[in-house]
Amino acid sequence: MAATGAAVGLGNIWKFPYLTGEHGGSAFVLVYIVCVAALGIPMMMAEVMLGRRGRQTPVNTLRTLAAEAKVSQGWQVIGWCGTLAGMLILSYYSVIGGWTLAYILYSATGTFSGITGEGASALFNQFVQNPAAQIGWHTAFMIMTMYIVARGVQSGLEKAVQYLMPALFGLLLVLVAYATTTGYFWQGLTFLFTPDFSQLSGTSMLTAMGQAFFSLSLGMGTIMIYGSYVPKGTSIASTSVSIALSDTLVALLAGMAIFPIVFANGLEPRAGPSLIFETIPVAFGHMTGGLLFGTLFFLLLLVAAWTSSISLIEPAVTLLIENYRMTRLRAAWWCGMVTWLLGFGTAFSFNLWAQVRVFGMTFFDNLDFLTSNLMLPFGGILIAIFAGWLLSPDTSRTELNIASPWGYSLWRVLIRYVAPVAVSVVLLHAIGVL
Ligand code: TRP
Repeated sequence: MAATGAAVGLGNIWKFPYLTGEHGGSAFVLVYIVCVAALGIPMMMAEVMLGRRGRQTPVNTLRTLAAEAKVSQGWQVIGWCGTLAGMLILSYYSVIGGWTLAYILYSATGTFSGITGEGASALFNQFVQNPAAQIGWHTAFMIMTMYIVARGVQSGLEKAVQYLMPALFGLLLVLVAYATTTGYFWQGLTFLFTPDFSQLSGTSMLTAMGQAFFSLSLGMGTIMIYGSYVPKGTSIASTSVSIALSDTLVALLAGMAIFPIVFANGLEPRAGPSLIFETIPVAFGHMTGGLLFGTLFFLLLLVAAWTSSISLIEPAVTLLIENYRMTRLRAAWWCGMVTWLLGFGTAFSFNLWAQVRVFGMTFFDNLDFLTSNLMLPFGGILIAIFAGWLLSPDTSRTELNIASPWGYSLWRVLIRYVAPVAVSVVLLHAIGVL
């Protein structure tokens, strides 16, 4: 449940639709689904397994397991790189979490009532162009996250996930139902599900793969931490499959809700990060009970973002606690401060620094590319090699404890050969080496 809470977040409802739009739809979706199934699930099993065996912050888990496998302590780099990636991701995740907070307010005060696509775009632009507002909402979201992390009361929030996730799911269905009334539902479905490979560049493939890692929270040690709480008897394989299935379903439903609205209102599928904030208000602005449903929707999206944000910074906080003997409060304070300051770069990417480009991209785009498309896949390759080649087969067989011998062999082939090779090829191809 907790890992599902960490997996389902802004990545599914905000990021997946806008990346799909930017990369031309269906072919991107197909690559994404293949990556989730063939790479995501075995990698998630590997991470849960390593976490359950190591039972510490990722850096120390790797230290323990490297010693056990009699390999170099250099493998700790997986933990360090992942811990850093988590903070980098949270710095921008928090800005978008702030957007969600603001949109709860807009919705509750009736701002969306009767709004057109154009009106929603104008509202969003006005909102992001105000740097002070961006910092304010980012700060509010960071405080919410660090409050939970500092108190170490994740379990309370995770229990809430049990009820709130199904509720979010229900509201997504309401949105999809609305989408069927726009007259553009089929056009939306075609865009999502009729593969058009002419749209598929190397960068699109890398982005689809990176998004699979991002959405499942893989490649940085979050899942290792959750794995360390998984009881011995639990089946790692079925847990991983069910997390991946719910995560993907939520993303696809979000896409099915959003693209019909995009086409019906003459909006731009390539709008980028603003996409859901320009489309979802239109839907709630036109349905009966939209005020209530809309407010509830952004509220639940906030909770989904919240449970994910906690998991992004937990590796850094537990590292300070375990290795530098800090109290949880102090550790949370320091990690939170650094991440919060870094978030200014993203908050300003949409206003003051919108024209500042490095490699042709804004600060936010660079940060996103670096983390999702480079750091997570790189961490993934190393985790796959560690779990597939260095951990003894006896260990992985016992830990995974898959009933059918065929299932274990499949996992082993995927983690030893398919995952490292496929991820490397896509990575090298996109950065122009292959
Ligand atoms: N998966 C989350 C989402 O889709 C974000 C997230 C949480 C994440 N923990 C992570 C992404 C670890 C990468 C790595 O919103």
